[in-house]
Amino acid sequence: MIEQFKQDVKNGLSSHPKSLPSKYFYDEIGDELFVQIMNLQEYYLTDCEMEIFSQKTNEIITNLGVQLNTEFDLIELGPGDGTKTIHLLKVLSKQKYNFTYHPVDISNHALDGLEQNLLSEIPKLSISKQQGDYFNILSELKKNNKQKIILFLGSNIGNFVDDKAKEFINTASTFMNPGDSILLGIDLIKPQEIVLPAYSDKQGITAKFNLNLLDRINNELDADFNRENFYHKATYNETEGIARSYIVSKSNQQVTIKKLDLSVEFVEDEKIQTEVSRKYNDEILSKIIKDSQLDVTGKIMDHRGYFADIILTKRNS
Ligand code: AVI
Repeated sequence: MIEQFKQDVKNGLSSHPKSLPSKYFYDEIGDELFVQIMNLQEYYLTDCEMEIFSQKTNEIITNLGVQLNTEFDLIELGPGDGTKTIHLLKVLSKQKYNFTYHPVDISNHALDGLEQNLLSEIPKLSISKQQGDYFNILSELKKNNKQKIILFLGSNIGNFVDDKAKEFINTASTFMNPGDSILLGIDLIKPQEIVLPAYSDKQGITAKFNLNLLDRINNELDADFNRENFYHKATYNETEGIARSYIVSKSNQQVTIKKLDLSVEFVEDEKIQTEVSRKYNDEILSKIIKDSQLDVTGKIMDHRGYFADIILTKRNS
């Protein structure tokens, strides 16, 4: 992990324009800040998907094509604290569906907390934690031949550039049999007045979340970034539907990263791109799934039409 981090920081800060991968936001402090972001009034994404899961649970279940008498695996990639999924799990359990819930995460610690929470609310839940890489786990689970439902919520796919999103969906599809589905949470394209504040909130929590990446590089790679000399900036272009986050240098300056044996020069206003958050419409989604053998078999939206949970089902080949 540290070797990969070193390599990615070195490549990103040596390229023009500079960039850093957003997956490195999520250290212990980053995780906490992300929880605060999800509770922000401006960050509408979580509320929207929560509304779908809590108020349209039966619609989700009908669209997933699961049967009361057929056992299935419900696999969640990156489940977080499970506050949305618990609504689905409760209804499935109450209606006596025969399923096992497999939350998949890199962090064992996160999975332990999730399991405890869920079992205290749904004591009879069949849960099998899976710690590791998403695709290794999907490949293992494919061996049992049960119907698979894969949850990938929270607009997490939005943090992939389109080529990567396509690759992700194509790969996920190779671990699915005809009739298996992915429930994919996507944020929909909408005006700048709604999207931009979600990525540049008034309290500055998103700024802290973004700039924490500099602290992480300081701590883990022995660097001397001074956070005060940089600021957070978010942009959004409604025509293309992509929000971008940057760390911007306030002045001409040099930063040394000892563990990389690297000095990095910044000129005033120079940006490091740290994240893309892609918003979708039907056309973009069709491009992403075009070669995947998956069809859109359901679309469930919140009442404002800001967010959608899409159901993608593998076709008979
Ligand atoms: C995790 N991901 C879907 C978030 C998003 O909206 O792109 C991460 C985030 N970045 C800034 N605020 C939230």
